[in-house]
Amino acid sequence: MKTISVEKDPTLGGTCLNVGCIPSKALLHNSHLYHMAKHDFKHRGIEVGNVSFNFDAMMKYKVNSVKALTGGIAMLFQKNKVQLVRGVGSIVAPNKVEVKGDKGVETINTKNILIATGSEVTPFPGVTFDEKQIITSTGALSLPSVPKKMLVIGAGVIGLELGSVYQRLGAEVVAVEFLESIGGVGIDGEVSKTLQKILVKEGMKFKLGTKVMGVRKEGSGVKVDVKAAKGGNKETLDCDVVLISIGRRPYTKGLGLEKVGIALDDRGRVPVNNKFQTTIPGIYAIGDCIHGPMLAHKAEDEGIVCVEGIKGMPVHFNYDAIPSVIYTSPEVGWVGKSEEDLKKEGRAYKVGKFPFLANSRAKTNGEPDGFVKVLADKATDVILGTHIIGPGGGELINEAVLAQEYGAAAEDVARVCHAHPTCAEALREANLAAYFGKPINF
Ligand code: NAI
Repeated sequence: MKTISVEKDPTLGGTCLNVGCIPSKALLHNSHLYHMAKHDFKHRGIEVGNVSFNFDAMMKYKVNSVKALTGGIAMLFQKNKVQLVRGVGSIVAPNKVEVKGDKGVETINTKNILIATGSEVTPFPGVTFDEKQIITSTGALSLPSVPKKMLVIGAGVIGLELGSVYQRLGAEVVAVEFLESIGGVGIDGEVSKTLQKILVKEGMKFKLGTKVMGVRKEGSGVKVDVKAAKGGNKETLDCDVVLISIGRRPYTKGLGLEKVGIALDDRGRVPVNNKFQTTIPGIYAIGDCIHGPMLAHKAEDEGIVCVEGIKGMPVHFNYDAIPSVIYTSPEVGWVGKSEEDLKKEGRAYKVGKFPFLANSRAKTNGEPDGFVKVLADKATDVILGTHIIGPGGGELINEAVLAQEYGAAAEDVARVCHAHPTCAEALREANLAAYFGKPINF
């Protein structure tokens, strides 16, 4: 197909690449290395003297990582003959897009339109972000210095990842969370509790079951009024910077959907059928602006099958096999159902668990925290969910996704030869425990 991509931002790659997954990983990885050098190297026999960090250089590294990848997309566009039109796109008729750019208005006539406009930060009622002291994740990725005290509102994925970065770099970090658990939607309860324990040991503080009543600047700092969610006394917390990470919402502003008769659902999402078609023929939508988890890999895969569908090929998308990862240390990764989900569904299931403490590689590497938990159907042994907290959990989860996507039983994974010594053996052992009732090495 002849393809035109319309983009309003100066660089390609959207939220994930510019102000999301990629810059946060640069900061997470480098702050982790600093933390290791400062607190962990000595007992491994590595002496580096007095370790310090240069925050400006760390930020520069992050900027360069992003620059290299956004530039890479521009090159891929050229190589694959995708034409880029810069400006704000608006659908003015089912086959017509108007783009307002620096050079005026350009009209594009097209057979198909694919909406992939993503999401934006959910605002906090009554609070204006200045991105210096009252910040979203975007501000947190570009602070000029490490704050002394950072308050995080919302202990979901963003709160935990960016909270970890600043905690490792020396900030006192307190996360205020409305729910009684951390990690956001879909995380298994046992994993959430384990992660909380580990992060508390590292120095992060949590105020769970707590409602935020107001945020205001006072003097040189910020004051945050909170109250127990179930009712209770009000308390005022002081900080230098408050990061608000209470979720994201679909971004469809100015897209002109109403002009062509596409009505958003009650959560502001673009309704689509299982072929990603909207109610208007020739207009499709994928990613954060439709249903499902707001994850770059989910959007990417939806985009591929949606376009295959436009070309007349079959469209299949398995929402039960989308991995979630929280890039803390240790990493958390999961796919499929949690124990809480299965209990709610009343499904009979069995649990296979294996601790990294009993995995030779994790133990030797000095990374024994965490476990793998496999949930399988009690009658058929088919894997329903896998939950990992531990070394390389974000990489390891992909093996579990492969198994789940191909409808594997726990026995299938348990009988696959795994290289020794690797952390992945813990996944095999957990599957063995689910299938056979007990693992070998624990
Ligand atoms: P989230 O949905 O993960 O977490 C938001 C948290 O805020 C929840 O725990 C919620 O209970 C809490 N909350 C909501 N309102 C509150 C209030 N008034 N007071 C206190 N707590 C409140 O959303 P988050 O962390 O903002 O991330 C946004 C999106 O970005 C998510 O959809 C996530 O999937 C995506 N993302 C994914 C990453 C990854 O895959 N590693 C990394 C960062 C973001």
